[in-house]
Amino acid sequence: MKELKPLNGKTIILGVSGGIAAYKACDLASGLRQMGASVHVVLTSNAKEFVSPLTFQTLTRNPVHCEQFEALGEWRPEHIELAQKADLLLVAPATANVIAKLATGICDDLLTTIVMASRAKIMLAPAMNPNMFEHPATQHNLNILENRYRYEIIPPDFGEVACGDFGQGKMASLDVILTSITSMMFTGPMLSGRHILVTGGGTREAIDPVRFIGNRSSGKMGIAMADAAYARGADVTLVSTVGVERPYPVILVETAQDMQEAVEGEFDSCDALVMTAAVSDFRPLAFSAHKIKKTESEDIVLELTKNPDILDLLGRMKQNDQVIIGFAAESESVMVHAAEKLARKNLDAIVGNDITVPDIGFGSDDNAVVILTADGGKENLPRMPKRAIAEHLCDLLDELFQAKNAVAVSK
Ligand code: C5P
Repeated sequence: MKELKPLNGKTIILGVSGGIAAYKACDLASGLRQMGASVHVVLTSNAKEFVSPLTFQTLTRNPVHCEQFEALGEWRPEHIELAQKADLLLVAPATANVIAKLATGICDDLLTTIVMASRAKIMLAPAMNPNMFEHPATQHNLNILENRYRYEIIPPDFGEVACGDFGQGKMASLDVILTSITSMMFTGPMLSGRHILVTGGGTREAIDPVRFIGNRSSGKMGIAMADAAYARGADVTLVSTVGVERPYPVILVETAQDMQEAVEGEFDSCDALVMTAAVSDFRPLAFSAHKIKKTESEDIVLELTKNPDILDLLGRMKQNDQVIIGFAAESESVMVHAAEKLARKNLDAIVGNDITVPDIGFGSDDNAVVILTADGGKENLPRMPKRAIAEHLCDLLDELFQAKNAVAVSK
């Protein structure tokens, strides 16, 4: 079965410096551990004023390090030991002070010494007051680090910071940091240079200003697919009815027609379309500008009209080197219906799932699916997290691209 924890076997040193965003590093430490990483936290003395070492020790299940001159358990100095076993050094939050020290090579505490002593990749998530962030000294220091091999900087968000000021300085969201880390750490088959267009969520078709026709799709499969492709170096665009903060573009849509417009706008430039979205097959024929009132009669009739089948339309426009993967959520004869749609919509593969199986599929983090390919292949994936299914689909995309390349070369 696929690796379910994308950071399994990785050692990450999480350096926490002394800004109020240090409290968010607790969730980060926990998230990294849950993704399989062995997390070792190093706190600066200022960070200890905001969060306690005990919090991190409990969350990471590893000792927390604060002092440069702790008593040695082993013969090797601790900063060398930690620095050498790390696959990634993440400094989050990175204060203006730590950024300045790293830019100039000052290593006067455990965290900065570890960074200097390590050959691992280094990721910084700056967080500070917007005036401090905009200050020419901070910008100059970030510029130095950006151009230094091994460093990646996750820019802070705009918004209100703890001291009440508005501007750029809020630490990037945990989702953005975690997605960037899985991307940085991925070592399997890559999708670099490929533009992968993913759809997700369930469309909503308005009846009146209050009501809509919708479905149970949570958008989780689309996000998992987009994250997995991004982690493999692809240029990802996610068109979804569910808004998420990600380091790749997310186009938010509501109706099937919105989704069609967004997908068609991106389709020509994409190498693959993975259509996980549950698109409403029908929409109300007329939209009532006012809320429909209760009537005297017990029944009201809602007239529906067919929505465009986006996948069907794009299957017809598909170029020889493009790949399209569709999804088929079925309540009976999954294989039969999925195989029929694979052929009718001119897809390269289809992912079928039985929506009558309890606890999986819509809204769940897991699913069990069968993947059929146009060349007659069939793979049954037992219940697993949607992210693991997405990893299978990324492997499949890689195979399909290679097969298309081979055909193009032999012509
Ligand atoms: O035919 P059916 O709706 O079951 O096909 C499911 C697949 O087609 C999914 O990949 C879904 O995203 C896509 N679809 C579409 N436009 C529709 C309905 C479904 O692109 N109107």
